[in-house]
Amino acid sequence: MKIDVLTIFPEFFGQVFDFGIIRRAKLAGIVDVNVHDIREFAADKHKMVDDRPFGGGDGMVLKPEPIFAAIESLLGTSERAAYPAGTKVVLLSPQGKPFDQTGAEDLAEQAAHLVLICGRYEGVDERVNDALVTQEISIGDYVLSGGEAAAVVVVDAVVRLLPDALGSETSAGNDSFSNGLLDCPHYTRPAEFRGMKVPDILLNGHHAEIEKWRREKALEKTRLVRKDLLEGENGEM
Ligand code: ADE
Repeated sequence: MKIDVLTIFPEFFGQVFDFGIIRRAKLAGIVDVNVHDIREFAADKHKMVDDRPFGGGDGMVLKPEPIFAAIESLLGTSERAAYPAGTKVVLLSPQGKPFDQTGAEDLAEQAAHLVLICGRYEGVDERVNDALVTQEISIGDYVLSGGEAAAVVVVDAVVRLLPDALGSETSAGNDSFSNGLLDCPHYTRPAEFRGMKVPDILLNGHHAEIEKWRREKALEKTRLVRKDLLEGENGEM
């Protein structure tokens, strides 16, 4: 997968993609992540990337020209219908569709080239959304000062789902949400720490009993903090 991030704060991303699974996936050639400064695509001599909103109001709006130029440079076109197959152009904004594990799985499966546009200030000129964007994503019902932190969240959630990104020792199959439940508790050595003991069943239980215990604990936790996940179609509850 190729990932391009468009931002007016490229320094924000520093080393954020150079740790753990993302770093390993980059080194293994599973993903290529590049960050681009929108300002470099501004054609005027002041390299303006934002301007005051038509109709008045507070704050500044990201201008369309540099973002269109950036997309043309990356994709060879700003005609959405002419994007190469497997191209997803995502705008990160609080107005987007809420991001969840299914959204991450869909991008991991379908996107060969993922372009993430980080919104800023009071917003992005709507013509970017109308003409360039294939989907608008919000990472939650709160307002960030920009889409940069959200782009990091999306990259992390998607890259770890790419084939072979997790390596053979782990799999995404037991993740929270992948089966509609939160994850069960985990323990490691020591078996007793400051008087707190690891549940007996994990020490001398059998595989089937451990699996049953894990599922019960996952259900218990989900019921306690995320009852909404149990409502709806999941008939096996
Ligand atoms: N930009 C500002 N707030 C955001 C959010 N909640 N999700 C994605 N991008 C954002």
